[in-house]
Amino acid sequence: MRIAYVVGTRPNFVKTAPVIGALRERFPDGRHALVHTGQHYDRLMSEVFFEELGVPAPDHMLEVGSGSHAQQAARVIERLEPVLVEEQPDLVMVPGDVNSTMAAALTAAKMRIPVAHIESGLRSFDRTMPEELNRVVTDHLSEHLLIHSPEASDNLHAEGVPGERVHLVGNTMIDTLVALEERFRAVDAARRLGVEPGDYVLVTLHRPALVDGPLLAETIERLAALAREMPVVFPVHPRTRAMMEAVESQHPGLLLSQPLGYLDFLSLLADAGAVLTDSGGIQEETTFLGIPCFTLRANTERPITITAGTNTLLGLDPAAIASIPAALAQRPAKEPEPPPLWDGDASERIADVVAG
Ligand code: UD1
Repeated sequence: MRIAYVVGTRPNFVKTAPVIGALRERFPDGRHALVHTGQHYDRLMSEVFFEELGVPAPDHMLEVGSGSHAQQAARVIERLEPVLVEEQPDLVMVPGDVNSTMAAALTAAKMRIPVAHIESGLRSFDRTMPEELNRVVTDHLSEHLLIHSPEASDNLHAEGVPGERVHLVGNTMIDTLVALEERFRAVDAARRLGVEPGDYVLVTLHRPALVDGPLLAETIERLAALAREMPVVFPVHPRTRAMMEAVESQHPGLLLSQPLGYLDFLSLLADAGAVLTDSGGIQEETTFLGIPCFTLRANTERPITITAGTNTLLGLDPAAIASIPAALAQRPAKEPEPPPLWDGDASERIADVVAG
């Protein structure tokens, strides 16, 4: 068994690490080649995750870096092909919905190498999101669609994907969270930042629809107003940092930081009073941890985090940030109830699928 895993961005590392671990154990004599496209390349966006997740250094670095969507995808395709020629994998495993994912799936499919897609079948039904295009293309090029919630199966069925290709395995990002729980609970990042556990809002924002245009300035103003009511901790993604600098945004009262390592971030997440985000993965992590999550987007490809979890969709509307304190005060006490198969064993189920 020869498997190539292709990852490129911060959330990819989190989703793929436990799968590599499970498949290495299942096929100890197989070849497990890790390819890092280099879409994310800063130490805090990449290396730190390999260290904390215990993933060995990649076997191949494609160093595609930043660029337009076409440039990023084209560089992945051009640089991955010779790697796959050399590695001759029986399977290419890709996670999530980023440009690297879609480009890797296309490269492999053109070479007639079967593709397995981790976190398949999610749909926001919003084709202005680059990730939505990546999801659709990747799913339709994949042989094995590894899904984490039942609605993914409905979405794929509606698009004509044969049911025998679809496998409900659970959530590999939650595998990582469960595996790291003892370590991140010991970190106490909140107190290190000078905020009280349970008392602050943790913010992450990086989607182009929010940060690449005029909504960014208004969002920062609204966050500054929120910070007068409760501490606001905001580790800033490089895309967002660049845009904030471009508009010379002022941010009185906000506790801004560099991007955080995963243990620090999970520690802050688990201790937060609430989370405000436009990230996909964080909607899932807060659902698992039972932390109230407010999503500053018009839609979500993860509706299960609303129906089963702790997520509230605020809309793509910075003014809605003002509603967070009241919403928290009125929130019914509810025990967290993670969706079925978000249990730490999804990667084992993926190993079962691959073995089958
Ligand atoms: C990408 C994904 C997005 C995912 C996010 C996770 C696509 C289309 N987007 O968005 O789905 O949610 O990753 O973080 O694939 N930059 C750095 N250092 C880095 C990486 C990026 O400074 O290590 C800066 C560069 O200025 C770059 C910008 O961030 O141009 C955006 O990076 P890019 O990878 O294009 O998209 P993300 O916004 O990170």
